[in-house]
Amino acid sequence: MHTSREIRQQFIDFFVSKHGHTAVPSSPVVPHDDPTLLFTNAGMNQFKDVFLGTGSRDYKRAVDTQKCIRAGGKHNDLDDVGIDTYHHTFFEMLGNWSFGDYFKQEAIDWAFELMTGVWGLDPKRLHATYFEGDTSENLEPDLEARDMWLKHLPETQVHPGNKKDNFWEMGEVGPCGPCSELHYDGTADFSGAALVNQDDPDIIEVWNLVFIQYNRSPDSSLSLLPAQHVDTGMGFERIVRVLQNKDSNYDTDVFTPIFDAIQKLTGARKYTPGGHDTALKDPINIAYRVIADHIRTLTFALADGAHCGNEGRSYVLRSILRRAVRFGRQTLGTNEPFFYKLVDAIIENFSDIFPEIKDKAEEVKAEIKDEEISFSKTLARGIELFNQAAEKSTTHISSEDAFRLHDTYGFPFSLTQLMAAERNLKVDQHAFDQLMEQARKISRATSGCMDIQTLLLDITQKHQTKPIEFLGYQSTETPGNIQYLFDLDANLPELTTRGIKGRNLVAITDQTPFYAQAGGQVGDTGIITASNGVEFIVTDTQKVGDVYFHVGTVAKDATDNLICGGSVLSVDADRRHKITANHTVTHLLNHKLRDILGDHIAQKGSLVDEQKTRFDFSHKSPLSIQELTKIQQGVAQDIAAQHPIHTAYVPQEEALKINSLRAVFGEKYPPTVRVVSIGVPVEILLGAPDEEKWRNYSIEFCGGVHIDNTHNIDQFVIISEEGVSKGVRRISALTGTLAQQAIQASDKLNHRLLDLNNYQGDEFATQTNNLAKAIEETIIPLIDAARLRDGIKEAQKKIKAAQKEQGKASASAAVDAAREIADTAQGNIIIAQVIGADGNTLRDAMDVIKAKKPDAALLLAAQTGDKCAFLASVPKAMISQGLKAGDWVREVAKVTGGGGGGRPDMAQAGGKDPTKITIALEAGKTFAQSKIGN
Ligand code: SER
Repeated sequence: MHTSREIRQQFIDFFVSKHGHTAVPSSPVVPHDDPTLLFTNAGMNQFKDVFLGTGSRDYKRAVDTQKCIRAGGKHNDLDDVGIDTYHHTFFEMLGNWSFGDYFKQEAIDWAFELMTGVWGLDPKRLHATYFEGDTSENLEPDLEARDMWLKHLPETQVHPGNKKDNFWEMGEVGPCGPCSELHYDGTADFSGAALVNQDDPDIIEVWNLVFIQYNRSPDSSLSLLPAQHVDTGMGFERIVRVLQNKDSNYDTDVFTPIFDAIQKLTGARKYTPGGHDTALKDPINIAYRVIADHIRTLTFALADGAHCGNEGRSYVLRSILRRAVRFGRQTLGTNEPFFYKLVDAIIENFSDIFPEIKDKAEEVKAEIKDEEISFSKTLARGIELFNQAAEKSTTHISSEDAFRLHDTYGFPFSLTQLMAAERNLKVDQHAFDQLMEQARKISRATSGCMDIQTLLLDITQKHQTKPIEFLGYQSTETPGNIQYLFDLDANLPELTTRGIKGRNLVAITDQTPFYAQAGGQVGDTGIITASNGVEFIVTDTQKVGDVYFHVGTVAKDATDNLICGGSVLSVDADRRHKITANHTVTHLLNHKLRDILGDHIAQKGSLVDEQKTRFDFSHKSPLSIQELTKIQQGVAQDIAAQHPIHTAYVPQEEALKINSLRAVFGEKYPPTVRVVSIGVPVEILLGAPDEEKWRNYSIEFCGGVHIDNTHNIDQFVIISEEGVSKGVRRISALTGTLAQQAIQASDKLNHRLLDLNNYQGDEFATQTNNLAKAIEETIIPLIDAARLRDGIKEAQKKIKAAQKEQGKASASAAVDAAREIADTAQGNIIIAQVIGADGNTLRDAMDVIKAKKPDAALLLAAQTGDKCAFLASVPKAMISQGLKAGDWVREVAKVTGGGGGGRPDMAQAGGKDPTKITIALEAGKTFAQSKIGN
């Protein structure tokens, strides 16, 4: 029996050795550069640009195994996973491609040759399908494909199929075409003919041969592509099952090692193999399948840079994770986080083919573990919500509640049904299904989002635009011809020959110095002056493949409309200079980060514009001030060293040999790459690629525009450092004039800090507070901000100490005054203002007097800033005579416009007007005498 590893290799070898294909690596399962896709859902995704004619490769035939996820978006298999034996959220797709080279005949003949000749499968077990045509779209039946199959198979094994099964589309938009599928009949009596495409586990589709000829536009129309291509996709797990002669994909060696790991970790009973009845429906078996499938999805997706979260792709991943964890809890009886521990089994079995999962192991495990912990809290809340939902009615759980449990708390409908049945309640499945369908529609709509890139892509397809030459590395002003103008304000852009004032337009020229947004660097802005003198103000530049789009409007004061034809294209050179300085400094920063923090630093994203560079990178903890200082100083040294920037186009393979060259993980690089080296000419690097010393230089793949010497960066300051997601930090920094301004602002604040010493008392405190606020509100170097904050802390310490001193002094003054009052007081009613006391020390004064005159009623007052405080204490004997402390202070406070009260033996009150203290105390005296009578 062939192992799955061997089968994968046999597929690749067949196309490489026998039919001249180039073996290429899988692209990441997270399509970072395609906004129309949630996940890589087919092998052809990475070649979309070739099919559309916006990109090219230096080979015409390719073969690979591609990591795919089908969950969320157009192709969504999530709900089937676990329930049947042949769907997966994560799977490998083996594929062979022709880019405008061979077509149907070869694709079909070779598929048959591999299946029967190489793998020895019985032709009687193969069924082929072809597209039956579709009149609504004017598509003819694919009789060509039918006849080609009939050369290999009898008529009883060649079947027509409808648009759903035999017209393949990648998403709502994109390349597509009729397809021909190969199904394998696993029935005992060769009775599969009637079961093709009937979702029968015994006759499954194993290979799909797509003949890509069209592009589907956002308005749903189909346009013919410039060339015809072949895209085939074979379900790896399915062919392994067929070749290993099993009833279920899950009984192959792709899954059995994962089952063993699940069994060991959870202590559940072993998985029972088989594809029917008990094996299929047994809840423990279902849990095994769900968990094994989902851990593959999570491991590969997170390793390729995705995360769990609340939106889009992150949300889909979180739901998948929760589904697996819930099965673990409820069916396999786990109580502790267990799911993350399965990552090791995936690494053990797949890292030889996909080494990235090993490199990212620790980050992946940490994120899954965190998610598991927070999910246990959600699960408890879900059960609470279920209980509330169950209280609402004696007959049923509403479909809205069931949907909320599913959507927010990861409860599958079957679980809600089960829990409802335990309470004798029903749930309306039909209404629930409708809500699910509605949600799916929304997710489909949002996953195929129509941003400007999608609109521009549509233009390239409808008008078969040609790649144009970018001249902006050499200059910022060139001549050029406006070839097309499109009106973006029309629902779908319309072609015009004149750009009308006030409308949003895009202009395509035959060449351009305008850099289009890519690799983190923003698009250029500037002016295109048409041959009739009218100015087109370019507010952004974008590209699709190598077609450049100038986005903008006709100048407001133009006397005419814009016309196509000869023109002058001028980039805003001042802005461009700032952007390029920020781009070059980003490379220096990237290099220094690795130098100082370690080799784990990988670029996670960047935004370079005329204001700043913002750089995201993988690193666990916040950077210390010492680290930031070293990084900032290191970059400053590179600037001072006046390194020239060298660039050259080099074959990718050769460039990759250069020691310490940096590339962005997951980025798609062409066969010929542009190398940007700061300080060493590229030819020298290529002459001795292994040299250890290249580690001291920044060397990157990059298509961006750079300044020619680091000296022109002028200044560099880091202004912030923060976390953006788990394990990813972000540094923002400035260069040139903006950096100088930040330094000047920081100098000013520093002077203010030094100046604080010229202030005393309250003024010192006010100045300190104002300065603290200014430090937080001003853009200054982060390192300076840290130092200034330390200065503020010192000043605040001084303020506290002074307040404490003042407190102590006032307490002792109050106690002295109180002694004096007690010593000189006559009678058993003592009423006095305690000079030097405040709200706090008035009590100390009261204690001193009480100790000396325990039988007297006391009423004390103090001035507290621009207010006043009163405190009264009355011994029991006098309370019974009618003098109550609460009433007493209230009467007194009233005189000063205040109020208060309290117990009969002790009470306090506040007053507003301290000038009235004397009159108030007089009133107090009268009040007391009226009660006590002496
Ligand atoms: N694109 C086709 C599919 O995914 C064949 O590779 O089925």
